[in-house]
Amino acid sequence: MSWLAQIGVDPGGIALFYGICFLGPLVLLLLVLCVYLFVILTGVMSGTLPVWFKNRPSRFRRRAQLDEPMIVAYDQLTREHRDAVFALRHDVFVGEQEIWSEPDRDGLDPDCLHVLALMKGEVVGTCRLLPVELDGRPGIKLGRLAVSRARRRRGIGRAIVRRVNVHLAEQGVEGVMHAQAQLEDWYAGFGWRREGAVFMEAGIEHVRMRYTPGSVS
Ligand SMILES: CC(C)(COP(=O)(O)OP(=O)(O)OC[C@H]1O[C@@H](n2cnc3c(N)ncnc32)[C@H](O)[C@@H]1OP(=O)(O)O)[C@@H](O)C(=O)NCCC(=O)NCCS
Repeated sequence: MSWLAQIGVDPGGIALFYGICFLGPLVLLLLVLCVYLFVILTGVMSGTLPVWFKNRPSRFRRRAQLDEPMIVAYDQLTREHRDAVFALRHDVFVGEQEIWSEPDRDGLDPDCLHVLALMKGEVVGTCRLLPVELDGRPGIKLGRLAVSRARRRRGIGRAIVRRVNVHLAEQGVEGVMHAQAQLEDWYAGFGWRREGAVFMEAGIEHVRMRYTPGSVS
């Protein structure tokens, strides 16, 4: 380096310059990684993850592919969507949960509104809304909620239930459902409240749940 000194350049200054240019960002990157790892580890250990971590960009990207669930009357469903809804319900309730051994048709579908969650045009989640009478007033019974097995735990079920809640609020009616008991807490997170004791339906423990728009913030 003596030749640098001979031409009047300070080698120490050059080292400092390169140190700031290259080591600075590297140290910053390591710091960010440490914070990220700390959040994951503490979140996993305590069973909770901060909202900003749950909503991190990667999750946004995955969820961005999901269209806002739409609500369609039976006779307005395209042939393709109708077939996809029945195929999905068959896969989940007949194939996976073995609730029925036959195709899942009870003749009520034409009376229902159908909720469709689409991802790039593919039906990945569904449920149906049957008009019923609740305490002498018009209400809606939510049923047949199913999300494609390959797409679970990505917020599709949540998007559907939230869409149903908005629909109930818009219509000013209450909703009821017979929920599988294991999902009670999950539905409760959307403001649905349990009514009465656990009962058996189709060989599975169920609870009746009700949603009253405006009852929760
Ligand atoms: C229930 C169902 C609709 C949820 O859809 P989803 O898109 O996976 O739900 P989301 O991603 O919005 O929410 C996931 C949360 O649902 C809850 N959940 C999902 N399946 C559950 C189960 N079998 N037991 C308990 N909680 C469950 C959990 O809280 C989960 O959160 P986690 O991933 O942090 O544990 C879907 O699992 C499904 O189609 N199941 C089979 C059919 C069924 O049981 N329908 C409901 C009839 S009442």
